[in-house]
Parts: sequence; C-alpha cells; structure tokens
Amino acid sequence: SLTKRLRLSSSSLSSSSTTPLSHLSLPGPPCWPLVGSLLDILWKGGLKRQHNIMLEYHKQYGDIFKMKLGNFESVQIGHPILLEELFRNESQFPQRLEIRPWKVYRDYRDESNGLLTLEGEEWIAVRRPLQQQLLKPNQIGKCHVRLNKVIENLITQIDSCCDEKRCMKDIMFELNKWTFQSTCSLLYNKKVGLLQPTNSKQALTFIMSSKQMMQCLGILMVTSVDLHKKVNSKIWKQHTEAWDNLFKIAKEYIDMRFLKPTVYTEEDILDEVYQSSQLSRKQLYAVMTELQIGGVETTANAMLWAIFNLSRNPKAQTRLNKEVLKVLPDGQAPTVMDINKIPFLKACLKESMRVTPTIPFTSRTLDKDTCVGGYLLPKNTVVMINAHPMNNKEEYFSDAKLFKPERWLHEKDKIHPFANMPFGFGKRMCIGRRLAELQLHLALCRIVQKYRLMATDNDPVEQLMSVVMVPNREIPVAFHKY
Ligand code: HEM
Repeated sequence: SLTKRLRLSSSSLSSSSTTPLSHLSLPGPPCWPLVGSLLDILWKGGLKRQHNIMLEYHKQYGDIFKMKLGNFESVQIGHPILLEELFRNESQFPQRLEIRPWKVYRDYRDESNGLLTLEGEEWIAVRRPLQQQLLKPNQIGKCHVRLNKVIENLITQIDSCCDEKRCMKDIMFELNKWTFQSTCSLLYNKKVGLLQPTNSKQALTFIMSSKQMMQCLGILMVTSVDLHKKVNSKIWKQHTEAWDNLFKIAKEYIDMRFLKPTVYTEEDILDEVYQSSQLSRKQLYAVMTELQIGGVETTANAMLWAIFNLSRNPKAQTRLNKEVLKVLPDGQAPTVMDINKIPFLKACLKESMRVTPTIPFTSRTLDKDTCVGGYLLPKNTVVMINAHPMNNKEEYFSDAKLFKPERWLHEKDKIHPFANMPFGFGKRMCIGRRLAELQLHLALCRIVQKYRLMATDNDPVEQLMSVVMVPNREIPVAFHKY
C-alpha cells in the first residue's frame, strides 16, 4: 500500500531495517519489445490524448508506475505526497527531460542555450540574474502600466474583430499577439504594433514560427532527431527554419536595443540583466529568444481557457463582474493594488488552470539515486510529474470536474500544495510565473469589466496535447459588451 511505501521511503536509504524496493518492481502498462507501451497509447487515443491515458493508467497501476515508449523509459508520479518527497530531495541544479531537438539545433547553428535547455552551473549562472528581475513581485509589479497599455490594444482588437454575433475568428492568435507584445514591451521596452491594423510582419513571423517549431517538437522527441538531421527530413527542415526565424527576429530586437540605447529611456529586463550579469551577447540572444517563446504560447493559452471556463459558468462570471466593479466602479484599468483587492479574480484563474491546465506535466531527470514512495529510483531516471490526474481526483478536489473558483477561497487550507502546480515547483519552477499571473489578472479583469462572455453552444470542447493543451475546435464564445 502507498502508506507502507511512504513509511519505507521516509526512512534513510542506509537503514538496515527497511530496504527500498527496486524500481524494476514498479507496476506499469503492457510493454512490448522495441515499442514499449506506444501501441497501447496509440490504441487508446494517441499522444495528443496522453494526459487522459495517464489518468487511466494512474487509476489502474497506482500513484507511481513505470512506462516505456520506444526507447524512452520513465517513472510516472501522480500523488502530492510523493511529489513533495521528490521535491524536498531536489538537488542543487535540478534537470528536466532533455529537449534534444533544441540542443541539436543549437549545435548545428552554433548558438547558445537558454534556460529551457541549460543544465548545471551554466543554468544557474543564467537563471540567477533573470530571477532577480522576473520572480520578485515588486519588480514585476512595477510593470502594470506598460502591461495595461497592451491590454487596451487587445480590447480594441476584440471590438474590431468581432462579427455581428460578437464572435471572434481565431481568438488564440489575437491572444498570441497580446502576449507577444507584452513580453517585448517588458524585455526590450519595444512596441511591435501587433495589435494595430498594420501588424508587424516580423512579429507575426515570430508567432507563426513558434507554433511551427512546437508542432515539429512532438515527433522529433519520440523519434531519432539525429537521423532526421542526417537525412534532412521534412520535419527537420521545418524545425530548423522555424528556429532560424525565431533567433533572427529576437537578435534584431536585441541588436536594435543596444544600438540605440538613448531612445529607450525606461528600464527594461534586457538592460537590467545586461548590467547586472556577465552574460555575453550570444548568451543573451538564446536566453531572450527562449523567454519570448516561453511567454507567448503559454499565457495566451491560459487566457483562452479562462475565457472558455467563465463563458460556461455564468454564475461565477457574474460574481467576478460584481467583485471587479466594486473595486473599479468607473471602468478604470486595474493596478496591482486593485488586483490584490479582488481575491475571486485570482481564484477564477487558479481554478481555470486546474480544470483546463496549459501544461499538464513537467519532468525531472534525477542526478542522484532517490527514494520515492518506497522505491529506489536510480540516477538518470526520468520522472514525469503528472498534474492532470491529481487535478481530476475527488480525493484532492471535491467535485473535481466542476469549475468552482470559491474552493480557492474557502477550502484553500484543505488543498495539498503539491496537488496543483501549474507552474512547476522548486528551483526550476517557471521563471515567467509572476509575469504571466500579472498579465492574466490584469487582462481578465479588463475583459470581464467590458464583456459578458457567452457560450454560443454547449457541446464538449476537448483538450488536446500539443506541447500546451489546445482546444480541439475554436472555443464557442461571444463577447457581448455591457
Ligand atoms: C518553465 C508553465 C509562462 C518562461 C515552466 C514550467 C512550467 C511552466 C510548468 C516547468 C517548471 C518545472 O519544471 O518545475 C508556464 C505557464 C505559463 C508560463 C502555465 C503561463 C500561464 C511563462 C512566461 C515565460 C516563461 C510568461 C517568460 C517570460 C519559462 C522558462 C522556463 C519555464 C524560461 C524554464 C525555467 C528553467 O528551467 O529554469 N513554465 N509558464 N513561462 N517557463 Fe513558464
């Protein structure tokens, strides 16, 4: 039983009385030679539905089990106590599963790695100065004026894009423009004019290339990227072309910023990081490119799901609208102080990220033998941290399938902190978390202030895995002005 294993694992490895079990004795789905469990996954709905398959596997094989997909072996964990144990034993430089296709591209083009791809001492050297800027609430809090300016552009864009039924085509792309513009504004103090009628071609290319790169990533992760490169396969070419565009555009923004320092009177993150660290221009290129990619798709995706969830839960939406109006009665834009006075706004976002997560799992590659749940996991084991099964379990969230923002106000103390980690955890937690949350709070506040979000149908909308969790169709929402 889990309790017995937890007892085992909490005792020291050197203890002679309790010997942890070998990872080989972990349960797991059927595993065939060469393909492992891949056929079972394909049979059950494919990699796009792997989050739901993991939910099913966790029910069948327990809170910790092993799995093999082709050559790729992993241990899957979906229990808050086990995750707490894992994270409490976290090493100095935690590692995630290597994103090998990205590293192969960097070697191919002789580019540096950014936070998503770096490891060890090099990773912390880059992370430290960025953390100073990005994770300190006071530092990010100062940015609300700049972020609000971009949100006003987003609101204008919603109005101009809505058809006679108040529906928007490709909401996600409009949200991408908003997050891209906000990120550029903070990183380089740059106005890219994306949410104006004359869209910047460069910026649009960046967004499209980011999507193209992510589409290629899934296949390149489960097949041999070296082979793709060797035969110059179509997918390798598309992946390379996308990265070439991403680096080229980010480099142009950075070079422009350094070329004309006097034009930029307000401080920005690039400047702060450059002044306070030893990072070379080449390192800055890689770091900033990855930050821009990290910021664009994720935050826009979280907003898309928040809009969807509110449209399907009119009661919660009405309460949110009332609470926003109490603090902002004259339709003014919110400040950070205002946001702090609307706990229900934060609860709505938290609940939206629980029921429809943007990223349903993260990973760690163990750099030492580690005991979890009574099993000894050897060094180099890849551990997948499955948030989706925990978010869906009645044990951790009553009425788990329902959108109930109030649970974050009234039952907060009862919720295990490791049962919901939309931004990951520990030393390698999402570096853009504070920025993303502030952007989302400010924009969601403004949207519910201006519009009643109405569901235009009540048919199911499924989440599909495509690096982030995308809807299987355009979300059916109309933006009715109050
Ligand atoms: C890492 C989620 C927004 C940049 C991560 C991780 C998650 C995540 C789950 C892995 C953490 C771990 O392994 O413990 C999200 C979500 C976002 C968001 C849900 C929005 C709603 C952003 C933004 C940026 C960003 C706005 C950039 C400004 C990064 C970077 C990493 C990361 C660079 C790697 C950090 C490292 O390895 O040191 N994010 N993220 N993310 N995120 Fe985010």
